[in-house]
Amino acid sequence: MAEDAQEVPQIALEAVIGFNGHVFSGLKVHPDKEHIIYPLGCTVIIKSLRSGKQTFLHGHTNNVSCISVSKSGRYIASGQVTFMGFKADIIIWDYEKKEIYARLVLHKARVEDLSFSPNDKYLVSLGGQDDGSIVVWNIESKEAICGSPASAQSAGHCLTIEYTNLNDEIFVSAGNGTLRVWELDLANRKIRPTECQTGQLKRIAKCLEIPNDDNYFYCGTTSGDILKVNLKTMLLNSCGPVKQKFSKGVNTLKVLKTGDLLVGSGDGMLSLCSGGNFKTIKCVTTFVSSSFLCSLISSFVIYSFILPSSHSTTNYGLLIICNRSVQLEGGVTSVTLRGDGQQFYVGTEAAQIYSLGYIDFKPELIATNHNSAVKDVAFPFGTSELFATCSQNDIRVWHTESSKELLRIMVPNITCNALGFMQDGRSIFSAWNDGKIRVFTPESGKLKLIIHNAHSMGVTAIAATNDCKRIVSGGGEGQVRVWEIFKDSYRLIEIMKEHKATVNCIKIKSNDKECVTASSDGACIIWDLVRFVRNQMVLSNTLFNVVCYHPEEFQIITSGTDRKIGYWEVYDGSAIRELEGSLSGAINGMHISEDGKYFVTGGDDKLLKLWHYSDGEVTHVGVGHSGSITNVRICPNSRCIVSTSADGAILRWRYPQTLNHE
Ligand SMILES: *[C@@H]1O[C@H](CO)[C@@H](O)[C@H](O)[C@H]1NC(C)=O
Ligand SMILES: *[C@@H]1O[C@H](CO)[C@@H](O)[C@H](O)[C@H]1NC(C)=O
Ligand SMILES: *[C@@H]1O[C@H](CO)[C@@H](O)[C@H](O)[C@H]1NC(C)=O
Repeated sequence: MAEDAQEVPQIALEAVIGFNGHVFSGLKVHPDKEHIIYPLGCTVIIKSLRSGKQTFLHGHTNNVSCISVSKSGRYIASGQVTFMGFKADIIIWDYEKKEIYARLVLHKARVEDLSFSPNDKYLVSLGGQDDGSIVVWNIESKEAICGSPASAQSAGHCLTIEYTNLNDEIFVSAGNGTLRVWELDLANRKIRPTECQTGQLKRIAKCLEIPNDDNYFYCGTTSGDILKVNLKTMLLNSCGPVKQKFSKGVNTLKVLKTGDLLVGSGDGMLSLCSGGNFKTIKCVTTFVSSSFLCSLISSFVIYSFILPSSHSTTNYGLLIICNRSVQLEGGVTSVTLRGDGQQFYVGTEAAQIYSLGYIDFKPELIATNHNSAVKDVAFPFGTSELFATCSQNDIRVWHTESSKELLRIMVPNITCNALGFMQDGRSIFSAWNDGKIRVFTPESGKLKLIIHNAHSMGVTAIAATNDCKRIVSGGGEGQVRVWEIFKDSYRLIEIMKEHKATVNCIKIKSNDKECVTASSDGACIIWDLVRFVRNQMVLSNTLFNVVCYHPEEFQIITSGTDRKIGYWEVYDGSAIRELEGSLSGAINGMHISEDGKYFVTGGDDKLLKLWHYSDGEVTHVGVGHSGSITNVRICPNSRCIVSTSADGAILRWRYPQTLNHE
């Protein structure tokens, strides 16, 4: 990766749509109250709350697993996961300079949690299950001071650590059957634990919160209750709520100035509860419920909800809500206060970030993201103002410039493999793994048309003719089918059976008389769409993932698992040239610029590459993806490039403008 990336100019990353909501307490408000900090893949993102501008901290080699911000705001620390048998890095970042201050390497396989001491003197780190140790680091010297196994042998794994607010020598750890207060003995380079006495209570603690005065600390458990422990005596003070426990466990906790607690739970609820008896004072769900959605519509996203089993093509208004949709939104994993807590931010497993005020307790969705692999991306014809992406459960339409989600079409539990806009802009057509083709209106997400049993092993590729009258689809069984589309009905025109395996990509020629399909069977076939016969076939020892017509339409380029980029003649299928597309990993997405001079590729090596078409040379590289790139598109006016990845991220890059004026 490094070799490729260093030799050529880089493509500037403009925006990232994505948030890893699975990292517990991964979302933080910086003490400057102007920025939020959160993980996405191997990147730590700093986002301005005012302008939305993002800064990216690149340095980890695998998923970021925890983030901590020092009290002064001077440092950010992040830990990562890695493979078994390898060391997982901790990086301390200089917040002002946005660069690496120190890289601390000791823990095996995973860094579970991190916490700064109140005066930025020390950082304490907790290793994951295969490591099980706690290490205290000296921030100034960037060295480890001492370490210790996190929990007693008889106890389970430790899951979280938290420094006290006033004392650089005292921190707390908690986990499965373990709750300890630690004291740092700097002179002897030792940390000494004292077990807290919780009597008969057997709990798995997931999160810790220590109010500013350091008198007590709170601990949220997987059983859905909260323990309050005296930090001086280390005795259990209270435990609750006794009756209505928090469903699916307490994931995250924050104490407000009033003494009340904000509790985020695994069922997706955010509750404000009394710090005395832990009874809920008020709560809000981050689930999609009808009332909640209605409030969102005016301010943010339009949701459209369609049941996968639906056979009706009409009667789906702007908003059909089903209670079952609640499962989509995921548990609350982060709560973070802005300043004194008049306002706070909440992150969920479903990769959403909300902002709430203490007074009205009304959630405003400030960032949304796909929470599973993004499969495809498409721009409408001739405009780059918006684009659509698809993934498991949904299709989303985004405003390009602001990265705001405009529309979400939800079809729960099934995956949209591919999509596109009709050239007249009146519909979005889409290919789903339940074997159906669905056509929606792009403004409201209303279902216009559904083709049942379009393919037997899922619809895997789709394209529409430029006259908007036909759809060509490909399936997991290898068939290519041509459909005539009417206002609210359709007709199967032809089935073309030559591919022996999944059809991965379809492109239609501008005169609608020919198309090309790429398949996992090692063939790309050029079809006559008038007589429905094969014109040409190119064969290679690869799974073809992608094919593109050069705008002049005399040549096609192909790529796939063999990492080669092939150029072929359309009229006789002969090979023209072959390029080494990547040093490692399949190429999954490819797109040619409108002028035909350049093309982009992306794949399992996570690098976006811009190639000169006739020189066959890489001119620019984009580094920033944390997961395999699944698809790439150059936007219609060649201002930007959008790439999608398997970790659920969408990245927008600046298309090098010098290339537009050649
Ligand atoms: C908690 O630890 C005990 C051993 O002390 C172990 O038997 C149990 O499986 C652990 N529970 C979880 C959920 O990890
Ligand atoms: C989606 O799948 C989950 C788990 O398999 C199931 O409980 C739920 O009912 C499904 N939702 C819909 C709308 O089919
Ligand atoms: C990294 O994160 C992605 C997406 O969240 C996940 O699919 C992948 O398994 C993770 N990798 C590791 C090593 O945990």
